[in-house]
Amino acid sequence: MDERIKPYLIASEPYYRPAGREVELFEAAYARRMPIILKGPTGCGKTRFIEYMAWRLRKPLIAIACNEDLSASDLVGRFLLDANGTVWHDGPLTTAVRCGAICYLDEVVEARADTTVVIHPLADHRRALPLDRRGELVLAHADFQLVMSYNPGYQSSAKDLKMSTRQRFGALDFHYPHKEIETEIVMREGAVDSDTATRLVGIARQSRELRGRALDEGISTRMLIHAAGLISHGIDPHAACRIAMTRPISDEEDVLHALDGFVEAHFGT
Ligand SMILES: Nc1ncnc2c1ncn2[C@@H]1O[C@H](COP(=O)(O)OP(=O)(O)O)[C@@H](O)[C@H]1O
Ligand SMILES: [Mg+2]
Repeated sequence: MDERIKPYLIASEPYYRPAGREVELFEAAYARRMPIILKGPTGCGKTRFIEYMAWRLRKPLIAIACNEDLSASDLVGRFLLDANGTVWHDGPLTTAVRCGAICYLDEVVEARADTTVVIHPLADHRRALPLDRRGELVLAHADFQLVMSYNPGYQSSAKDLKMSTRQRFGALDFHYPHKEIETEIVMREGAVDSDTATRLVGIARQSRELRGRALDEGISTRMLIHAAGLISHGIDPHAACRIAMTRPISDEEDVLHALDGFVEAHFGT
């Protein structure tokens, strides 16, 4: 394996609790090097899943957080000036393509449209990355796979994925886990007992019913783990839920009041 990507190998098994057939389906997709979109709300386990899969497949994982300032050169690379003149530096996408990593573009709709277009030739039969500035066409290493995450929840149509991008990918659906599984995850990741985890999950599930009305999104598994972590640190549940769950997701008095009501219903007043 290429020296440049060894640092991206995942050394020990990440904890991932499967919710359905996603491991088997992803393995089949990887075997075909099919580009995949992980679809689902924030904090539901997409990143953890890809870390787990990269570990399982023994492939390096190069993850790139997308944002509106991310340019095509940030992904593919650029010429930089040094003592010897201008030298080309591969960007993280190019490194993944050359050396055979799984490249994970996190929250891809946040990237600018011209940035998304550079992945198109990588995501169809060409499996190639043109480096226009350098006049080079990089053919993808046999192990290379493109994966991206996408939260379909609250996108404005301007930020939706283009059909030309969508049709190059397969998609795996992610949701917040079932009650029992989520409780297990919160116990393990937040180091709390099953009673505390059950109550936290109950609050989150109530908040998720407000989705699309009072809230863009309900309380995520990630938030529950943060709250659990504070509780296991000795903070009382009410304060922990305020800091880690209710206050971050809304600024509206009536919504906060409703959320506080859920906390009281599960932890008492
Ligand atoms: N199925 C799962 N197995 C293990 N941990 C999970 C699972 N789902 C969520 N988590 C926990 O929730 C946290 C947030 O998940 P993450 O993968 O970062 O969410 P996303 O990438 O979907 O926003 C993780 O750090 C992990 O602790
Ligand atoms: Mg993520």
